[in-house]
Amino acid sequence: MRTPAAVFWCLLLLFPVQRIVRVDAFTGTYGINYGRIADNIPAPENVVSILKAIKIKNVKIFDSDHGVLKAFKGSGLELVVGLSNDYVKEINSSEDRAMEWVKDNVQSWLPDTKITGIAVGNEVLGGGDLELEEALYGAIKNVYKALSRLQLTDVIQISSPHSQGVFAYSYPPSNCTFKESVLQYMKPILGFFAMIGSPFSINVYPFIAYKSDPEHINLSYALFLPNAGIVDPKTNLHYDNMFDATIDAAYTALEAAGYGKMEVEVTETGWASSGDEDETGATAQNARIYNFNLRKRLFKRKGTPLRPKVVMKAYVFALFNEDLKPGPGSERHYGLFKADGSISYDIGFSGLSNLHTSSSPSTQKEFYAGGWLAPNSLVLFTCIWIAVHLYVRY
Ligand SMILES: *[C@@H]1O[C@H](CO)[C@@H](O)[C@H](O)[C@H]1NC(C)=O
Ligand SMILES: *[C@@H]1O[C@H](CO)[C@@H](O)[C@H](O)[C@H]1NC(C)=O
Ligand SMILES: *[C@@H]1O[C@H](CO)[C@@H](O)[C@H](O)[C@H]1NC(C)=O
Repeated sequence: MRTPAAVFWCLLLLFPVQRIVRVDAFTGTYGINYGRIADNIPAPENVVSILKAIKIKNVKIFDSDHGVLKAFKGSGLELVVGLSNDYVKEINSSEDRAMEWVKDNVQSWLPDTKITGIAVGNEVLGGGDLELEEALYGAIKNVYKALSRLQLTDVIQISSPHSQGVFAYSYPPSNCTFKESVLQYMKPILGFFAMIGSPFSINVYPFIAYKSDPEHINLSYALFLPNAGIVDPKTNLHYDNMFDATIDAAYTALEAAGYGKMEVEVTETGWASSGDEDETGATAQNARIYNFNLRKRLFKRKGTPLRPKVVMKAYVFALFNEDLKPGPGSERHYGLFKADGSISYDIGFSGLSNLHTSSSPSTQKEFYAGGWLAPNSLVLFTCIWIAVHLYVRY
């Protein structure tokens, strides 16, 4: 191949021809939710140190707290901010309000604070507030319009995390569809996301499935431990863990709705280390096993049985136990870390007490190992390598 041709094909690989530039808010495979419904967790500046020490680069918050945005300045951490449900109705009703919100909470912080995405609403659909469900699509569109006017659509990706409550589904994955009551609100959003290249975002909790039916769900299957698994009679695919099965259920529902090509990403998954008496399975031992195996699963950069080539990505829930969260006891015990910064259980991360000895990553490469070596970088290196070599030769 002659030099120009080789370089041309390389560049084509690197920048696939698309009507809209697809922006990816999630560059690694293992991210974390930094929930802050607590009055005793470390200050955001210290949280940045923890995240660097445990080498997690992709972070998601549920609001756009300016203290957090400030602490993340210059950290290199990539942040997805949340436009909380409280704002969804007014943002739907007013383009000006959407523009104001995007300017205050996103644009004015760029590029020092590396905001890469906005999660519009959280678990709105199927949640029962019909006015809110109706407003979600308009809010998403208005936020996108604002990003577009500010020329930020190739920097910021919009998503909208859903709960498993959007599915009418018990078993097996191939039997999954969206609930009829959800479809009317879901469809326009899927259509819009397909156009702008956003993924379908789902919060996946095998723990909640297990605790609701411990008699029939095998704990090993929920915890990624060796077990017989299930075979989906329709697809003949074998599932040895509930996490993968749930994601393929989502792919099936998307396909049935006409969006089989849309990528699924997990915006929350986790396991509580403690809970109320009736919350079977909420133990530190199970939480440790789930989170240890999940991390191993994600670092393999593998797809699911139904979509083997689509690398699975997930934001773990959560960084800290959150003492002020309402609901059952488990809600206050999802943290990989306790409020004082010590680890809740050992999955290979060290706690805050070790921070001073390990806060500066030994090499950039190590720090970014989770996500920096993305396929595009590899293609780019290959292109440069080919170009340089051919150039030298001719
Ligand atoms: C959403 O905004 C549109 C346009 O302003 C408005 O007609 C509609 O009533 C709003 N829906 C809700 C549920 O607020
Ligand atoms: C498929 O899911 C429906 C609920 O949507 C359920 O009633 C039915 O039993 C499931 N089919 C199988 C084969 O499990
Ligand atoms: C769960 O699966 C494991 C491994 O296949 C098996 O040893 C165990 O008995 C099963 N537990 C239940 C409750 O069925």
